[in-house]
Amino acid sequence: MTILLDGKKLSAEIKLEIAAEVKQLIAAGKKVPHLAAVLVGNNGASETYVASKAKNCEEVGFMSSLIRLDEGISETALLGKIDELNSNADIDGFIVQLPLPKHIVVQKIMEAIDPKKDVDGFHPVNAGRLLQNLPCYIPATPYGIMIMLERYKIETAGKHCVIIGRSNIVGMPMSVLMSRNGYPGNCTVTLCHSKTNNLAEVVRSADIVIAALGSPKFVTVDMVKDGAVVIDVGITRIESKDTKSGFKICGDVDFENVAPKCSYISPVPGGVGLMTIVGLLKNTLNAASR
Ligand code: GUN
Repeated sequence: MTILLDGKKLSAEIKLEIAAEVKQLIAAGKKVPHLAAVLVGNNGASETYVASKAKNCEEVGFMSSLIRLDEGISETALLGKIDELNSNADIDGFIVQLPLPKHIVVQKIMEAIDPKKDVDGFHPVNAGRLLQNLPCYIPATPYGIMIMLERYKIETAGKHCVIIGRSNIVGMPMSVLMSRNGYPGNCTVTLCHSKTNNLAEVVRSADIVIAALGSPKFVTVDMVKDGAVVIDVGITRIESKDTKSGFKICGDVDFENVAPKCSYISPVPGGVGLMTIVGLLKNTLNAASR
């Protein structure tokens, strides 16, 4: 039997828990957690993401602010905005929505964010602390996946976890989290990427597959062993005649054919994407509680 890792249901449950914690903070005379998002330009997908983040903040009782900046803003002016947010005591955490326009060096911007307010967990200080298992902000998607594995009580100790994709945002931190001495964790981890030889064979040996490469339906039924746990991180927008918007979101896993073979599988949409929001909300709550 295949169990669906239902991000919709789980995220709704956890958001209720966060909302209850916010009420407790307020009852104890603490301030309302406040998340700010910086959006440069008007990339369609980014607009959708920041709108969703604001809506979710509202649902749990957080304050949220959106700082919209012109596509042509200079790097210096953007760095000035970040300084302002770093020193604004009312804002507990903030994110700079990616991608940024090409004339801006992303790494410079990430390094300018105060690590204590870096609720995306992208600053090298947070990435380094994650590596050493020290308190830090875990990037929202890996954090959301860890919560999902934990809440579904999925066995991880001694398992072979194969991660496809080595991004700083998902694959790399996920490999660290799944290999650490804890739960979820204690896996033997293989991190696959574009230069991996015999990738299908490696994935076939996995007890847990985490697909995070951004290639629609890349993981096919012949690549998955019977009873595997499959986590799909892909969120590629593809054109579709079936939707009003003219596009739909497609995962990295050929869900229809792979699902019957799995013990657990996360769908797209309705899986990891919603848990990513939970990861961000939890980081913001931690930022406000410090
Ligand atoms: N763009 C796509 N995903 C993310 C994310 O998690 N954080 C930020 N800042 N930008 C993104």
